[in-house]
Amino acid sequence: MENLVKKDLLDFMNLKDKNEIDKLYNRAYNIKLHTIGKNVYYRGLIEISNICYKDCFYCGIRKSNKIHRFDTSLEEIVSRAEWAYKNNYGSITLQAGESTNEKFIEFIEKAILKIKEMSNGELGITLSLGEQSKETYERWRKAGAHRYLLRIETSNKELYEKIHPIDKNHSFETRVKKIELLKQCNYQVGTGVMIGLPFQTNEDLVNDILFFKQMDIDMIGMGPYIVSENTPLGKYVLENNKNTEEDKYIRYEKSLKMIALTRIYLKDVNIAATTALQALNATGREEGIMAGANILMPIITTEENRKDYQLYDGKPCISDTSDECKRCLSNRVSSVGEKIGYGEWGDSPHFKNRLLKNN
Ligand code: 5AD
Repeated sequence: MENLVKKDLLDFMNLKDKNEIDKLYNRAYNIKLHTIGKNVYYRGLIEISNICYKDCFYCGIRKSNKIHRFDTSLEEIVSRAEWAYKNNYGSITLQAGESTNEKFIEFIEKAILKIKEMSNGELGITLSLGEQSKETYERWRKAGAHRYLLRIETSNKELYEKIHPIDKNHSFETRVKKIELLKQCNYQVGTGVMIGLPFQTNEDLVNDILFFKQMDIDMIGMGPYIVSENTPLGKYVLENNKNTEEDKYIRYEKSLKMIALTRIYLKDVNIAATTALQALNATGREEGIMAGANILMPIITTEENRKDYQLYDGKPCISDTSDECKRCLSNRVSSVGEKIGYGEWGDSPHFKNRLLKNN
């Protein structure tokens, strides 16, 4: 099991036997215990705006969608972060649709500075704000954010170009370059993919794992592709009758296999059990942990905005309060015998190892 090659990963991705698949999850979970321990770390997720200038074919908040758009005031963001701080969540994540205008850049910088000030520097800050210039990444890093998530979505360029409108604002090559840039700017860098996309093969998924390795990625956030009815890709899937319960189950199982194989192949990275897993299965996030994930992202978005941040249909937790999410997730974590690393940043061990290796 130690030195897997591409063919092994593909064989595991293709597994059909339930017992064999369970064994795979167990192996991954044992590696998680060995490299991370029995802890799961929280990143309180604040979805601060659904305004987006990109038009990704799969996403419910794409520019062309006529939905109610919102943003969040500085005071409100800091107050959500304060809730996380008081509840001993070691870290938060600020996520929004993409914007590159100077007002937005400055606004985020201020939010980071204020959150750091409010928490005496204790709250870790992850950003998930898309493709930005080097100057912007540096500015936000300097203000105090130390982790950044930018999904590659798929490492297959051809597939990437099928699910995104390609123009001067949007290309596969730029996405890869931005991930490199984030490393240069000294962030812990996260990426990830959607699993079970139309046209995506198991070999594509295995190549995604090899891509994570080749890019020396510190954190992985990936989950099943879920139809958003009002999008070009969602319509395609529905028109071709490819969204049956069985299709959804296949995407779900592939997502768990991807978590397990990523844990087994990369070992020391942080891996999130994402909300999308729970959208397909009520106990999806717990099963994600049991397949090797070690990060959860409880939603702490302002309640009135939750319903407007629907990247896909049937997103869970949109009618919950932050307190309800806290209780619910802590029960889920204890139900699988794991502990929440309250008050800790839970940084990616891979990041520390990467610095040691490169210095
Ligand atoms: N299904 C699953 N994940 C989605 N995302 C956007 N739309 C969907 C969808 N329909 C994911 C993308 C993006 C992240 C913020 O949400 O991977 O990077």
